[in-house]
Amino acid sequence: MFHFGVDYFPEHWPEDRWPEDARLMAEAGFNVVRLAEFAWAKMEPQEEQYDFDWLDRAIAILASHDIRVVLGTPTASPPPWLMAQSPEFFRVREDGRRVTFGNRREYCPNNPVYHEYTRRIVTHMAKHYANHPAVIGWQIDNELGGRCYCPICARAFQEWLRDRYGSLDALNQRWGTIFWSHTYTDWDQVPLPLTTGGSPNPGLALDFLRFSSDSYVAVQQMQVEILRDKCPAHFVTHNFMGFGYDQIDYFDMARDLDFVAWDNYPRGFWDMRADVDPSQAALSCDTMRGLKRQNVWVMEQQAGPSGWETVSTAPRPGELRLWAYQSIAHGADGIVFFRWRTARFGTEEYWHGLLDHHGRPGRRYEEIKRMGGEIKKAGEQLHGSTVKPSVAMILSYDSRFAFQIQANNPQFSYSAHFHQIHHAFYDHHVPVDVVAPTADLSAYKLVVAPALHVVSEATAENLKRFIRAGGVLVVTSRTGVKDTANAVVDVPLPGLLAGLCGVEVEEYDSLPPNVCNELEFTVPELRSPHPVFASVWCDVLKPNSATVIARYTQDYTAGKPAITLNQFGQGQVVYVGTVGDADLYESLAGWLLGLAGLQPIVAAPEGVEVTERWQGDDRLLFLLNHTGHAQEVDLDGHSTDLLRETACEGKVTIAPRDVLILLAGSSRSSGG
Ligand code: GLA
Ligand code: GLA
Repeated sequence: MFHFGVDYFPEHWPEDRWPEDARLMAEAGFNVVRLAEFAWAKMEPQEEQYDFDWLDRAIAILASHDIRVVLGTPTASPPPWLMAQSPEFFRVREDGRRVTFGNRREYCPNNPVYHEYTRRIVTHMAKHYANHPAVIGWQIDNELGGRCYCPICARAFQEWLRDRYGSLDALNQRWGTIFWSHTYTDWDQVPLPLTTGGSPNPGLALDFLRFSSDSYVAVQQMQVEILRDKCPAHFVTHNFMGFGYDQIDYFDMARDLDFVAWDNYPRGFWDMRADVDPSQAALSCDTMRGLKRQNVWVMEQQAGPSGWETVSTAPRPGELRLWAYQSIAHGADGIVFFRWRTARFGTEEYWHGLLDHHGRPGRRYEEIKRMGGEIKKAGEQLHGSTVKPSVAMILSYDSRFAFQIQANNPQFSYSAHFHQIHHAFYDHHVPVDVVAPTADLSAYKLVVAPALHVVSEATAENLKRFIRAGGVLVVTSRTGVKDTANAVVDVPLPGLLAGLCGVEVEEYDSLPPNVCNELEFTVPELRSPHPVFASVWCDVLKPNSATVIARYTQDYTAGKPAITLNQFGQGQVVYVGTVGDADLYESLAGWLLGLAGLQPIVAAPEGVEVTERWQGDDRLLFLLNHTGHAQEVDLDGHSTDLLRETACEGKVTIAPRDVLILLAGSSRSSGG
């Protein structure tokens, strides 16, 4: 069943309103709600006094309308009676200062006493709802994340290092602590990378970021174990924060869950742009689906203007529905809108729900109610159908963390670089999976590993295997620079990948802001009437077996290779030794698709997003018009418009901010 619903906080409203809420939800076609993820103070108002009666009553009302329930464990918002017990429950920031009460997620992830409180509330909730017929699953905590620099974490970090390195000698050697006499003679001496300590040893800093990530994965694991034990019939998930969140290795976080859920706000905080860039949400969708290479839920799908202190530009008519369909187009099997009714109080008074503060249905409710009717008809076809890209991008949290420590160039952003390349494939209407460095790559023809800075032997082997089997691999500058302890390798760059790439980096030039080099291409397909620029970073390449695809034309690097192509095994490896702009990636993507023998799903005008999901051999083609004007797409053959239940053939018109989901037989695949 396709799950379609809303995040609901009955505890924010008088109880006599609950039946009306449930009625309106059912009329909107909702079959699921998420409840209770911040309701610790109401479920355990005082230590060891539990009260689930109010929640039972709310669930009963919802269940009477056939609405199922996902329960959030409330551990993201510990109540004052708990936090007042110990200053050590509070996280310490990077500058060494402890956070104070007033928001949420204030807790230290490694405090053992706090863990006891977590276990207790989760166990009580789990026992109470294990056999409740309306409850189908759990969301653990809420948007786990953060970093804590407290003394308890310092000790836990030292333990973590002991496990990783075995001996202090090994740690000293891998980190290179001989530098500046940092040689540790006792585990207790190993510090946290507080800002008061200045620029840290990169090895220590990367390990701390990994440790922090592991700490939150462990917090989740603690809850997973309780829920699996007490509620074996329920699913367990967590609401991730999309591609943009860069402090937890989401591949690790996803491992213990039944499926990934995430929070999708195309128009997020303080977003005052006139138009939203839908490629950002597309990247998040592909990343979230890639974490387990499995369909996802959106646990919070934007329901209105966002805002805490200030209010974002309002989503235009049609956008909320369009964005929700975009999530589906990329592999969501559940859509839950955040939130039902806009809160009258609290920090998020201006984070708008489907209903405004007054609680009367309006434009946004009607828009989603229309979608609810559509999902009732089309949900079964959609549910469980899969996205099957032939292109993958490798997301390396090790590299991402390493760039947080050393940006290499002040203009360089790993996330922006990654997004820019993804954007090029998005514009070419080619689906992309975002996967881990050691993921099985055999399903793909083209793999792009942007700025794969930290490369392990296992990753290098994985890439080699892929290329030997005939794949096309693309790597970009600053690849292969670091070993797994975040020390620079002692061989020419790109380090472990130099053999594959058939190229060595002779030297590099880190460019000042607003300074560009210009590229000249040797391949006719890449020649452009406009100048194509290189910026941020210029690797000067020395091809061994590779051929030159582009050269620099300016400055002392003029005439030197910038982009190369190497044959390796059955496959090919492209090294892009610089950071380009949208034009470079746009044309590179087109050329690379050709190299890999891939084609766009269909040709479509700019502003129309194209994706496909497969239900067995049946293809569901999604055409999403993100623009404010009607657009046309030419199609081969007959298809059925799933939402309108009409037949179409040849040219189809997509109304402004509308979506078409067309069902056709498997006449072609994106594999080309
Ligand atoms: C100073 C110091 C050196 C080195 C360089 C580069 O000159 O004396 O030890 O740190 O800066 O940072
Ligand atoms: C996140 C949280 C929600 C809410 C929204 C809006 O997605 O999970 O609880 O705070 O942001 O701020």
